[in-house]
Amino acid sequence: MNTVLITGAGSGIGSAVAKSLAEREGIRLVLMGRRLEPLLVVKRSLKNSQLHEAVSMDVSDSDAMVSWLSGEVANLTKYPLVAVFANAGIGGGNAFGEGDRWDEIIRINLTGTYITLMACHPYLKQSKGVTHALVTSSVLARFGVPGQTAYVASKTGLLGLVRSLAMEWSADGIMVNALCPGWVDTDMARNSIQAMAEAQGISYDQSKAQQEEILPAKRISTPAEIAQWVDFLFSGLGEGCDKARIETFTGQALDINSGSWMG
Ligand SMILES: NC(=O)c1ccc[n+]([C@@H]2O[C@H](COP(=O)([O-])OP(=O)(O)OC[C@H]3O[C@@H](n4cnc5c(N)ncnc54)[C@H](OP(=O)(O)O)[C@@H]3O)[C@@H](O)[C@H]2O)c1
Repeated sequence: MNTVLITGAGSGIGSAVAKSLAEREGIRLVLMGRRLEPLLVVKRSLKNSQLHEAVSMDVSDSDAMVSWLSGEVANLTKYPLVAVFANAGIGGGNAFGEGDRWDEIIRINLTGTYITLMACHPYLKQSKGVTHALVTSSVLARFGVPGQTAYVASKTGLLGLVRSLAMEWSADGIMVNALCPGWVDTDMARNSIQAMAEAQGISYDQSKAQQEEILPAKRISTPAEIAQWVDFLFSGLGEGCDKARIETFTGQALDINSGSWMG
């Protein structure tokens, strides 16, 4: 039995990834987020629910993260850590001056992801075979958005983090990569679309339709679609897994954005 850690697992992309990975034999999930209740709801919904752990954790609290991972409940000696999906994040805008959310967004999205990966590194390194550190960046690492300097900087910074850690860790068999999703139908996206609707004096559905119209694929992704990519990247993990292992894909960003940015 091996462990996969998912942050931001109580909702949206993280919960979809948990549901998908829980279908595999030999995988025990650690579900992290600040609010315990949604994590427990996800845990209860998973196959082999009793195997998995739900942990209230702020990813920007380095001491708490390091301490929990070394503890008895984590039990990473018995259940080696083979992958971390550092997916927790917050969205929204920021503006210079009083009440600027710059520090909060950078602290959670960029520093929190750094802390998650660094705290997991010793355990990934000691696990046998190829292991994975995957982060959730964004299509907003690919272009700028007015009023969202912190979010765009945090998600762009994650690509630098991934490239540097791929240089450091790949020789030890740790594949370090990023997902860059475009719109995904989660609470975060719904809040952004709602804010745009209010700014324009139109309905939520009209605002969503506007966003979809400018996408080459004409629709936004679902969390389950993003989970399929994580499933693919982690395809070597799990007991009796006969899928090909992903052993030479590292330092990369996977763009899943309905065609909104083409690299
Ligand atoms: N939806 C999109 O269109 C989209 C597009 C590109 C990238 N993304 C990225 O995808 C990731 C997942 O977002 P989502 O769309 O699935 O939205 P979501 O449903 O709002 O999920 C974000 C999750 O992160 C957790 N979280 C936030 N701050 C945290 C912290 N300090 N410590 C631990 N957990 C924390 C939240 O739980 P708690 O509040 O309980 O902590 C929540 O479960 C984020 O990094 C986001 O930036 C989303």
